[in-house]
Amino acid sequence: MYGLVNKAIEDYVCSNFDADTWERIKEKAQVDVDVFVCMEAYPDEVTYSLVGAASELLGTPASEILSSFGEHWVGFTRREGYAELLAATGRTLPEFLSNLDGLHARVGLTYGFANTPLFRVKPTGPGELVLDYVSTRPGLGPMVMGLLQGLGLMFHTSVTVEWVTHRADGAACDQFLVKYVAPV
Ligand code: HEM
Repeated sequence: MYGLVNKAIEDYVCSNFDADTWERIKEKAQVDVDVFVCMEAYPDEVTYSLVGAASELLGTPASEILSSFGEHWVGFTRREGYAELLAATGRTLPEFLSNLDGLHARVGLTYGFANTPLFRVKPTGPGELVLDYVSTRPGLGPMVMGLLQGLGLMFHTSVTVEWVTHRADGAACDQFLVKYVAPV
């Protein structure tokens, strides 16, 4: 994945733990990279190994690491120069989610990637929608759960997420039921 993602993992570890823990995670993951370059493509194994090593060292399931990391991602991208893009993607959580593929397409223009996830939004009632997450990469559903919490913080909206269908169990994609209460 692009260096931006690995840099975000570093930022997550350093802000929730410390720089020494990050060095130990890289060592355990056998990732010999001093500085990740945002726009450079690294093998996906680098990202998966970092998450696996963090899980072992911190004694926390990888799914929890991915979820907290997903929540961290929204603030990280905002600080890394994407605040305007995030703001332009939607004024509410459902509007933002409906435009998420457009956001990745815009980012993809500068990064030159084609392997981005796809999201489909189906409103199912007031304050409720179903989100399909279609990806070529396995195991990142927990990150989406955390991303939704991060977006909830960004929109000052309380969000609960239920993971309804799992691709790992043979479903066509991961599907989430998202309930949200926007501020009045
Ligand atoms: C301005 C904000 C954002 C930027 C700059 C951004 C950029 C990226 C980049 C560079 C990747 C890696 C793609 C690759 O290496 O092939 C990625 C992956 C991903 N992004 Fe975003 N993204 C943003 C916001 C979001 C948000 C809000 C979500 C919420 C659901 C999201 C969901 C994902 C997921 C789940 C992946 C994992 C890749 C996969 O499934 O294949 N992103 N994004």
